[in-house]
Amino acid sequence: MKELKALVLAGGFGTRLRPLSCTRPKMLFPVANQPLLDWTLKNLSEGGVDTVILAVNYMAEALVRYLGPTKFDLGIIYSREERPLGTGGPIKKAADLLQNGGPFLVLNGDVISDIDYRRLVEFHRRKGGLATIALFQVPDPSRYGAVELDGEGRILRFVEKPEPGRAPSNLVNAGIYVLDPKVIDYIPEGRSVSTENEVFPVLAKEGALYGYEARGLWMDIGVPEDYLRANGLLLAKLDGVQVGEKSKVDSSAEVLPPSSIGAGVEVGANSVIGPNTSIADHVHIGRGCRIENSIIFPGATIGDYTSVRNAIIGENATLERWVKVESGSLIGDYAVIADGVTITQGVSICPSKRVEESILEPRQVM
Ligand code: GTP
Repeated sequence: MKELKALVLAGGFGTRLRPLSCTRPKMLFPVANQPLLDWTLKNLSEGGVDTVILAVNYMAEALVRYLGPTKFDLGIIYSREERPLGTGGPIKKAADLLQNGGPFLVLNGDVISDIDYRRLVEFHRRKGGLATIALFQVPDPSRYGAVELDGEGRILRFVEKPEPGRAPSNLVNAGIYVLDPKVIDYIPEGRSVSTENEVFPVLAKEGALYGYEARGLWMDIGVPEDYLRANGLLLAKLDGVQVGEKSKVDSSAEVLPPSSIGAGVEVGANSVIGPNTSIADHVHIGRGCRIENSIIFPGATIGDYTSVRNAIIGENATLERWVKVESGSLIGDYAVIADGVTITQGVSICPSKRVEESILEPRQVM
């Protein structure tokens, strides 16, 4: 029987991907052409969760409109913050919904994982601690919180964003937790609280914090490189090439797997799309274009002979003709890149900006 609750942290701005948040919150960014939150909710539903509390602030209405009261067999309750409460404050705010019952899940909404929640909760119950953090092995822990475990699986200490060579292990906090309701008492009320910095270190000192080493797929989509990688991995899971309704791909164009093309998309003569590329609905791609390892948001226009490699193009953005966008660059919603311009090396263009000259070094264009 399902009776597990999950609080999903779906607020926050997502600083590095902000130029894409003009028309939608990060939780609704497409990953392999499905909103990020759909991947999370589906896995929660399969993992025995029956109720999701979605902690929202920025663009809350867009989330409510998209999800409504139920999805994937889950009841969805919205907990709206008047101002951002961080990663811990939303747990306190939803205390009435969480404190009468057994352990509950908390997860960062910008993480994609195929973790088995049943196993995680079972581990938590067996260990009998107050909190269990899911941990994943990563090759480079420097962007995450790395942990040191004892032989029993207790977390002894955290090192946030360790410098190279300073990490106690390659096991990092995945942003997925099981909490006993008593943890709510450790969270101060009425202000923004960081669970990682203010609550977990206290629990670790008390010997009440455990780490569960999970395996499988885990990614957060905080920076363009990770977002592109997540997109590629999930496209590979869907397998092959998908083309939505009313899309017209010219017979001389090629779509290389894995790739996903939404509905109402047009692809002109001799263009090559893919691999690892998702094109959302109503995107218009001209002739002779090359689009590879990239994410194109709905309604974008890609002019003739333009190439997009390892890049993200925002909603309704326009790349005119002979444009090149490459190497982790990000074009904000409604931006326009003029004929012949090259944008490369992690450049980020703000929404609605018109760019007439090439930019070849990392910078943010306001
Ligand atoms: P950066 O701005 O790039 O640091 O990203 P972020 O705002 O997403 O912050 P962080 O990585 O600390 O957030 C972890 C998770 O918590 C993400 O899924 C956020 O969406 C979510 N989150 C962050 N701040 C808040 C908040 O104030 N309220 C709620 N409800 N969720 C939040």
